[in-house]
Amino acid sequence: MLATQKQYVQWFENETLRHARWLSESNHLPPARIVLVDDKTTADEAYRLACEGTSLLWRGDFHNAKQLLQALKRRIERTNERSEQRKIKKAANKPAKSNKTAAESSETPKDIPNLFHQQRQIQAQRSRILSRLLLELDTDYVSHLRRAPDVSTACTAAFGQLDKAADESCVLSFRDLQGALGAAQWREKGVSIESLGVSIYPHYGVFAPTRHEYVQLLLDAPLPTVNNVAYDIGTGTGLLAIILAQRGVKQVVATDLNPRALACASENFTRLELANVQLQQADLYPTDAPLANLIVCNPPWLPAKPSSSLEYAVYDANSTMLLGFLQGAKQHLAEQGEIWLILSDLAEHLQLRTREELLDWFANAGLAVKYRLDTKPKHGRSQDDTDPLFAARSAEVTSLWCLQRV
Ligand SMILES: C[S@@+](CC[C@H](N)C(=O)[O-])C[C@H]1O[C@@H](n2cnc3c(N)ncnc32)[C@H](O)[C@@H]1O
Repeated sequence: MLATQKQYVQWFENETLRHARWLSESNHLPPARIVLVDDKTTADEAYRLACEGTSLLWRGDFHNAKQLLQALKRRIERTNERSEQRKIKKAANKPAKSNKTAAESSETPKDIPNLFHQQRQIQAQRSRILSRLLLELDTDYVSHLRRAPDVSTACTAAFGQLDKAADESCVLSFRDLQGALGAAQWREKGVSIESLGVSIYPHYGVFAPTRHEYVQLLLDAPLPTVNNVAYDIGTGTGLLAIILAQRGVKQVVATDLNPRALACASENFTRLELANVQLQQADLYPTDAPLANLIVCNPPWLPAKPSSSLEYAVYDANSTMLLGFLQGAKQHLAEQGEIWLILSDLAEHLQLRTREELLDWFANAGLAVKYRLDTKPKHGRSQDDTDPLFAARSAEVTSLWCLQRV
């Protein structure tokens, strides 16, 4: 889905001023300086230019561009490692205020939120540098580079049609193209949700439930005695609505703000022939729906500012969605109704929120905890002890909080 406000880039090529539509899913502004690069450009030269803020429009062989991207990644990693070593050295040379070693003091719990923000900054800087390698596609999303694969189906699915009448080409980063190609594969092969016995087909830019340990919680939680109407707030691919429909809830109303999510959920419901699930584009709660006996929601788990449209399903700035969800719940809940809130406590381990705060938010919304079901994530990152945030990630617990009116 392209931004309605079109943006353009321009550059000189063969002494002609060229321009093209600018596409960026990472919300990067159109680059101010573009130079042409090809197979003769060395990785060191490309890295230097990209670090200086120059964007590189690739005119060589398509596969060589992929290799250049790998070479840029290795250079970024080496630079980050060197800067990490410098920090450790600096800390080691500082006069000790306590009897802790430098390594111990750099991991004191009070540094964790800082460490989290530093890690995000490192990721953002990495993304900015890598996104400086660009390619041009014509108005049908065809690349005219040597050995270029067919990317037009993946790009149309991810970014929507270009304006063919205007016959405009587009320029985008190789990274965004790789994102679109990866998403096209997920969309084709699907994510198998074994405990449910179905596959879910995520679209580009929609939260893909590749980590789905919480599905078992939704299968284990006893349904409220009256369960005619349920809402799934922030449905994404439609996964939670599908679980409720499969468990026998008669009418499920699923909402999302993201048009890509609505298109994706609709396709998943149709595939599974679920006629009793309705979709609405809404900011949180549906309008004109009967009161719900059950409201489920799996909001983004981390209270931090998303840095691109693709991060809106992961980061919830100032806990806006979570707080809005809780505050609106009672108004939409039938008398004996239940809320099932899916939330990990990673934010607590990262010291971005406390448990007391969360419990206060429940109480302020007039909700009491009826019970809680927990599960431990098994995904790779929770077991990677080289991750600077390993202590927090390995302690993470994902819960289904069953809430009801006080
Ligand atoms: C973490 S994802 C969960 C998706 C899905 N429920 C699941 O469990 O796989 C959060 C979803 O909430 C949606 N969302 C964020 N803010 C919203 C809002 N104010 N109203 C409705 N949906 C919202 C996002 O677009 C995203 O699809």
